Amino acid sequence: MRKKSVQGMLAFAQTSQGLRKELSAFDLTMLGIGAIIGTGIFVLTGTGATVAGPGLVLSFVIGALACGFAALCYAEFAAMLPISGSTYTYAYATLGELVAWIIGWDLMLEYLLASSAVSVGWSGYFQSLLAGFGVTLPEALTAAAGAVPGKDTLFNLPAFCIAMIITGLLAFGIKESKRVNNIVVLIKVAVVVLFIAIGMWHVKPVNWSPALPYGFDGVFHGAAIVFFSFLGFDAVTCAAEEVKDPARDIPRGVIWSLAICSLLYVIVSAIMTGIVPYAQFAGIDHPVSLALQVAKLDWFAGFVDLGAILGMMTVILVMTYGQTRILLAMSRDGLLPKVFSDINPKYGTPYKATWLIGTVIALIAGFVPLHTLAELVNIGTLAAFSLIALAVIVLRKREPDLPRKFYCPAVPYVPALAILFCVFLMTQLSALTWVFFVGWLLIGLAVYFGYSRRNSLLHKPH
Ligand code: ALA
Repeated sequence: MRKKSVQGMLAFAQTSQGLRKELSAFDLTMLGIGAIIGTGIFVLTGTGATVAGPGLVLSFVIGALACGFAALCYAEFAAMLPISGSTYTYAYATLGELVAWIIGWDLMLEYLLASSAVSVGWSGYFQSLLAGFGVTLPEALTAAAGAVPGKDTLFNLPAFCIAMIITGLLAFGIKESKRVNNIVVLIKVAVVVLFIAIGMWHVKPVNWSPALPYGFDGVFHGAAIVFFSFLGFDAVTCAAEEVKDPARDIPRGVIWSLAICSLLYVIVSAIMTGIVPYAQFAGIDHPVSLALQVAKLDWFAGFVDLGAILGMMTVILVMTYGQTRILLAMSRDGLLPKVFSDINPKYGTPYKATWLIGTVIALIAGFVPLHTLAELVNIGTLAAFSLIALAVIVLRKREPDLPRKFYCPAVPYVPALAILFCVFLMTQLSALTWVFFVGWLLIGLAVYFGYSRRNSLLHKPH
C-alpha cells in the first residue's frame, strides 16, 4: 500500500536532466494520431461491420465515449504529474505500489502486444503490395505457425523486420523519430480525409438499412472489437518528460488527438457501410480499399493501401516508445532491473531497453498470430483505464488541494462513466481472453512478490 509522494515526484521531474525536452502540443497531437489511426480503422472495421452492420457507426460512438471519459481522467493526472510512466506513475501516487505494479503490468498487454499485433497487420498489407509487383515470399515466412488455416506457415518475416526497423529508429533518438512521425501522420490523415471526400459521393443510402441487423448486441460486440482503433491517445502521456510545457500541452495532445480520430472514424464507418452492403465485409482484411473497389475507384484503393502501410508504422513507433517509457519509470522506482532505465548519453534515449523490448516485440510478431494478440490488447487497456478513472476520484478526495492545471469535469460522474463503459466493454470480450488475462496478472503478482517488492526504492529493510 506504500505510495510515492506527489510533491517528491514533482521535485524529481524538475531536476531530472536525462531525457531531452523536444515536444510541443502540436507534436503531441501528431504523436497521438500517429498511435491511434492504424490497424483498427484499416483492418478491424471489416470484422466490426460484419457483427454490427451499419450499426458500426454506433459501435464507434460507444468506443469514442469510453475513451473520451478516460481521456479526461488521463488529462487531469498528466497535467498534475508530468513524469514518464503514464498511468503507472499516477497510480503509484494514489492507489499504492501494488496497484501501480498491476497497472504497469496491464499496460504491457496494451503497448507491447499492440506493437506486435500492428506489425502483423502491417505485414498483411505489405505482402499484398508486394504481390501487386509480382513478388511473393516463401510460404513459411509469410505468417506465424497456425495463423492461416491450411497453409504451412512458420514465421512472419515482414512483421519481425518492421518491428526491428522501428526499434532502431527509436533507439537513435526522439528528435529523428518525431520528424518521421509527423510526416507519416500527415500522409495517413490525408488518405483518410480523401477517402471521406471522395467516398461520400458513392454512398447508397439503401445499404444503411436495416441499420441494426443484429440489434444492440451486434453494436456492443462491434464496440468491443473497434475499441482497439482508439488505443494510442494515452501514449501521449508517456512522453511527459520530453515535453516543453507538459502541464499545458499534454491535456491538449490527449484530447485533440482523440477528438480528431473519433470524428474521422465515425464518418469513415458511415461511408464504408454506405458504399458496401455490410455482409460483403466478412473475412476481408482490406475493408477500406474494398469500399473503394466497390465504388470502382481502384486507383485510389492502391493509394489507400500505401497510406495504411505507412500509417501502421507510426502506430508501432508510438506504442513501442510508450512501452519503453513505462519500463523506464518502473525501473527507476526499483520495481524492474536497472537496465530498463539506463539512458544513453549520446542519443538521450533508453537505448538498451529499447533494443531489448523491440526484439521481444519483433519475435512475438514473428511467431504469434494476429487474432491471439488482438484478443489480449483490449482487455489489458480497459482494465488500466478503469483503474485510472478510479484513481482520479480517490485523489480528489484525499488531496483536494493539490494544484491541478487541468480539471476533469464533473468528478465523480465522468470518471464513474469511464469505469462503467470500460467494465461493460470488458464483459463483451471472450472467456478465453479473460483466462489469459487472469494468467498474465498471476505471473505479474509472482514477479512483484519475488523481485519488485524487495527491490522497490520505497522498501526499507528491517
Ligand atoms: N489504435 C491503434 C490501431 O488502430 C492501436 O492500430
